[in-house]
Amino acid sequence: APPAGSPVPLPAFPPPDTLPSTAEFPDPLVMRDGTKIATKKDWEEKRRPELKELFQHYMYGRFPAKPEKVTAKVLFEDTKALGGKGTLREVELTFGPPEWPKLYLLIAAPNGTPPVACFVGPNFGGNHLLTAHEQVRVPTVWVPGGYPGVEKGTNRATAEGRGKQADTWPLQQIVESGYAVATFYCGDVQPDRPGVSEGMRATLPAAKDAPPADETATVMWWAWGCHRAVDFLVTDPRTDAKRLAVVGHSRLGKTALLAGAFDDRIAVVIPHQSGCGGAGPSRSKNPKAEPVKRITTVFPHWFCANFRAFGDDTTKIPFDQHSLVAICAPRPVLATNADDDQWANPPGQFDVLTAAAPVYRLYGDARPVAAKLPETGTLADERLGYFVRAGKHSMTPDDWKVFTRYADKWLK
Ligand code: GCU
Repeated sequence: APPAGSPVPLPAFPPPDTLPSTAEFPDPLVMRDGTKIATKKDWEEKRRPELKELFQHYMYGRFPAKPEKVTAKVLFEDTKALGGKGTLREVELTFGPPEWPKLYLLIAAPNGTPPVACFVGPNFGGNHLLTAHEQVRVPTVWVPGGYPGVEKGTNRATAEGRGKQADTWPLQQIVESGYAVATFYCGDVQPDRPGVSEGMRATLPAAKDAPPADETATVMWWAWGCHRAVDFLVTDPRTDAKRLAVVGHSRLGKTALLAGAFDDRIAVVIPHQSGCGGAGPSRSKNPKAEPVKRITTVFPHWFCANFRAFGDDTTKIPFDQHSLVAICAPRPVLATNADDDQWANPPGQFDVLTAAAPVYRLYGDARPVAAKLPETGTLADERLGYFVRAGKHSMTPDDWKVFTRYADKWLK
């Protein structure tokens, strides 16, 4: 077995530019060698593992091995938080080697209930932005400039930011709906910038020399962070290990979908406004949507070098994002969006869900997706769920009402 945290080796695949061109979405039920998949068994034993390898090699970089050990330390616990409705905790997770970054999980949960379903996912700027609670840790690593309380020029977070983005993960509202919620700052795992001198990328020897074209990229590291959070949640007596839903917004929505696809312990997957590289197609027909060329140029660290090679010709990608959704089958996936956010390609995401449906049908769900594009404001709560609200690119308390409604159907 490879050392903990290092990428698991993959079989050899041809270079991106030598792959055959396919204008439409490649069929999720046809193997690379042309074999047709007709049963759940063959899907699970043959095609699903093949797709997971393809997504690693050509898009997100290799899936890191699970750490041998995850140690949890409760940093604080306040049983009278959230307007007296619940308990707020912050848990520090440490993994094996001492030089590895730590992950800080902020968990809000209702009081006095049996174990509840829990939403889990990364946040953009630090746990302290989500609550004014004074015991919540302020990140000490690099944070993006422009967020509340971030020192000009230094990219350091300060206590000024406390509670200033509480609407993005409305902890009390979620707890009042009967759910727990656990979130961590994505930058503790891997800061959102190119370069390999920090975060998990810095711990790999390969990162220091010429990185392989399928080096584990940032979105994959963030997904890895979600998996480590799940490692803790499945041992936590207050959350129900069988009822975890992963959530993320935008770049972290891409992360949520990847995390769900690569971890069967996650029961429901909610990529919010995830767009290109998430639930949005790479072969996009929406002129307003973000193209692969643009995303791999502006955010070169999110995906591996192999994916950048498809920028000029997405027809050579040997899969499209419907196959990442299909890897989640039969688990529910809800793609949520906003009308004004065509950059994230809401209609293209519906095409992606529709194209994933044949795999869900293998599991016996005859109607896994709405028959036509749902209207704005109407939740299509099928196993391949879809929702568009009016408005712009953001994650709001109203979005969370949709997430909890969907979870009420699939997790209660
Ligand atoms: C940019 C990027 C998107 C991404 C978004 C975000 O707009 O182009 O792909 O989803 O940032 O993370 O907010």
